[in-house]
Amino acid sequence: MIRDEELDALLRTAPWMSEDGRKADRYARVDHAELGSAALLLVVAAVGGPASGRRFFVPVDLRGGRDEPREAHAVDEFHTAAVLRTLAGGTLRTARGGAVEFRGAGGGVREVRRLPFERGWSSNALSLMEIGGVPHIHKTYRCLDDGVREPDLLRLMNGTGRTPQWAGDYAYVDPASGTRHPLGVVYRYAPGDGIDVPLRQNLRSLWPALSRLLKDGAPESVARRHLRPLEDQLREAGRFLRGFHTDLADRLGDGTPQPAYPAAEQLAQAEHRLAELHGRTTADPALPARAVRRAFHAMNAEVAALRAELERPGASWTGGGPCHGDLHLSHLLWHPPALIDLSTPSTAPTAPGWPAQSPLEDVVALQRGLEYFAADEAAFEAAGRLEVDSLETMLGSLDGAPHLPAAQQDVLRQVFAVADHWRERVRELLLGPASDGPLRRLLYLRRLLHELAYNHAHTRPYHAAIDLRHALRLGEGGRGAHREPEDVRP
Ligand SMILES: Nc1ncnc2c1ncn2[C@@H]1O[C@H](COP(=O)(O)OP(=O)(O)OP(=O)(O)O)[C@@H](O)[C@H]1O
Ligand SMILES: [Mg+2]
Repeated sequence: MIRDEELDALLRTAPWMSEDGRKADRYARVDHAELGSAALLLVVAAVGGPASGRRFFVPVDLRGGRDEPREAHAVDEFHTAAVLRTLAGGTLRTARGGAVEFRGAGGGVREVRRLPFERGWSSNALSLMEIGGVPHIHKTYRCLDDGVREPDLLRLMNGTGRTPQWAGDYAYVDPASGTRHPLGVVYRYAPGDGIDVPLRQNLRSLWPALSRLLKDGAPESVARRHLRPLEDQLREAGRFLRGFHTDLADRLGDGTPQPAYPAAEQLAQAEHRLAELHGRTTADPALPARAVRRAFHAMNAEVAALRAELERPGASWTGGGPCHGDLHLSHLLWHPPALIDLSTPSTAPTAPGWPAQSPLEDVVALQRGLEYFAADEAAFEAAGRLEVDSLETMLGSLDGAPHLPAAQQDVLRQVFAVADHWRERVRELLLGPASDGPLRRLLYLRRLLHELAYNHAHTRPYHAAIDLRHALRLGEGGRGAHREPEDVRP
C-alpha cells in the first residue's frame, strides 16, 4: 500500500491537479481496489483547503523495484488490464465494501495493446489502445464528483454514428450512498481533426493574398470566395450537428413533449449578472471607455427586448432539448464528422435540469467559439503587419485605434473586416440562419455574460475585448440571415 507521504507527493505535484486541490492540507485514502497485480485503484479525498472533500481517482503502479510509487497511467499493464476487465465485465470489491463495476459491450476476448498517442492537454487522462486491431481510447476521469455523464451518453448513442462507438466503462460504487461515479470509459478512436484545423488553414492562407484580393472585391466577397473550398464540408458538418441533436433527443427522451424552457428565471439571472458586471467592466482601465459604455447599452437593450418578448401574451419559447453541453470547435471532428467529449447537462426527462437545456446552447457555443477564433487570428495578423502587439490591435478593433496613423488604422480595419465577414460566412454555412428567436438570443446573451465574467476574473482584457466587440453587435437582429435555404435543412 502507498504511504501517506508518497500519496501526498504524487498528488500535490501532479500536472492535472487543480490549484485549489493542491492547497489541501492533506489527502486521505477513501477506498481502494486491486486490479490484479497491475495497479491499485485508489479513491482519495482532499482534506482541508478550498477543495476539501473533493474526491479523485488515482490508479497507482505499486510493482516493486522502484523507490516511489507512480501513477499507473504511465504503465502499459494498467491500461491493458483495465481495458480487458472492462470488455469482460464484472465487479471488483473495494476495501471499504464498495465496488468497481465494469461493463462491456461484449464481442469476445480480443488482443489488447497500447499504442503511442500524441495529443494536447486535457483535464482527464486519455490513452490510445488497440483492441482486436482497432484503435480505441481509454479515458479515465480524475475527479469523482464532477457529475461525469460521458460513458452513459456514449453507450446510449451507440449505433447513431454521431459519437465514437462505446466499448465499455467502469465506475466506483460508493458503499455509503450507493451512488455510481464513472472512473473510466473505452470507446473507438475517431480519426480526423477538430473543425478548427481546416478553418485555421483556410483563414491563414488568405492573409498573404489580402491586398491583391481586396483590389478585386469588397471584404465580404473576398471572404466568401476564399471559403468556397470548405463550403460543402461546413454544410455537411452543420447537418451532422442537427442530426446529432435529433438522435440525442430520441435516445435520451421518453417520448413525452419537451417541457417549456424556464426562460423567465434564466433571463432574471442574466439581468443580475449584467448589473454585477457593469461596475467591473467600467473600472477596467485596459478597455476603451466609450466602447464599454456602448456595449453595456446594447446588452441592456437586449435584456429589455427579451423581457418584452417574455411578457408578450401567448409567447412560447420553443427550442428546448438535450445538447452536447461543452461544444468547442475541436470537439466537432471533421472528415468523417464525429462529436467527442459529450457533457450533456441532463440525460433524462426525470433528471434535474432537463427543461433548462437546449440544442441552441451548442449553436451559441460554436458561434462564440468562431468569434474568439476569428478575432484572435485577425488581431495576430494585424499585429504582425503593424509591428505592435496583439492586445493593441484587439483593443484597436474596438475603438479604431485613434493613436495610430491613418494608414495603420486602415490596415487594422481591413484585416478585421475580412475576418469578420469570413466568420459570418463560416457561421452561416455551419450553423444555418442566424435565428432571431428569443431563446437563441437569451442563450447567446447568457454565454456572452458568462465569458465576460470569466475573462474579468482571470484578468484577460484581450478576451474581454472580443466579448465587447460582439456585445456591440447585439440587436442587429437576424444578421447574416440566410440567403440559401438549402443550407439549413438537416
Ligand atoms: N474518440 C476520439 N478519437 C480521436 N481523438 C480523440 C477521441 N477522444 C478524444 N480525443 C482527443 O483527445 C482530446 C481530449 O479529449 P477530451 O476532450 O474527451 O478530454 P477531456 O479531458 O474531457 O478534455 P477537457 O479538459 O477539454 O474537457 C480531444 O481534444 C481529442 O484531440
Ligand atoms: Mg471534457
